[in-house]
Amino acid sequence: MAQLSPLLATRWSPHAFDPIADLTDAEVASLLEAARWAPSADNTQPWRFLLGRRHGEAYKRILTNLTPANQRWAGRASALLLGAHATTGPAGGPLPHAAYDLGQAVAHLTVQATALRLHVRQIAGFDAAGLRADLELPPEVRPHVVVALGRLGDPLSLPEDLRLRELGLRRRRPVADLLLG
Ligand SMILES: Cc1cc2nc3c(=O)[nH]c(=O)nc-3n(C[C@H](O)[C@H](O)[C@H](O)COP(=O)(O)O)c2cc1C
Repeated sequence: MAQLSPLLATRWSPHAFDPIADLTDAEVASLLEAARWAPSADNTQPWRFLLGRRHGEAYKRILTNLTPANQRWAGRASALLLGAHATTGPAGGPLPHAAYDLGQAVAHLTVQATALRLHVRQIAGFDAAGLRADLELPPEVRPHVVVALGRLGDPLSLPEDLRLRELGLRRRRPVADLLLG
């Protein structure tokens, strides 16, 4: 395999999070700082986040709106971070790259999480309308992803099907498959 930074080589998305561990305020600040410094189209920085910390009201509201399959494991994460993006710029124009920009911000956050020995699993399986209502999101913002954050937990704590996935080999297409032409 070609050389990869340890920060990228060691990143992976667990289902098993430590159900006791909390994130420190410094860790949360560091994660958001990483997202803040992501590149974006015309530097529009359209990402918006809503942080739910374990036992908090926002956490409960985010968790309730995940699909049942995701609720099986996500309630052990230390934090559930909603990632959303603005749909229009300050002058009211469209932001065609906003979802791409949000993805880059979350990627930055994920790398920073790895540097802090934290883990991340992103979640697209949620009820967007329910989240919008329960979190009273402004209409100009589109919820796009939920980011489960925390310290690695014990895979043995998972239901059997998730445990098998957790301990199984991760696979990727060969680079040749990514190249067009
Ligand atoms: C946009 C996005 C949406 C995802 N949605 C879910 C999800 O709803 N539930 C889930 O368990 N994992 C979800 N994942 C995690 C992926 O399944 C995981 O990243 C992928 O299998 C690769 O594994 P790795 O991150 O360990 O390399 C999502 C990841 C991304 C980037």
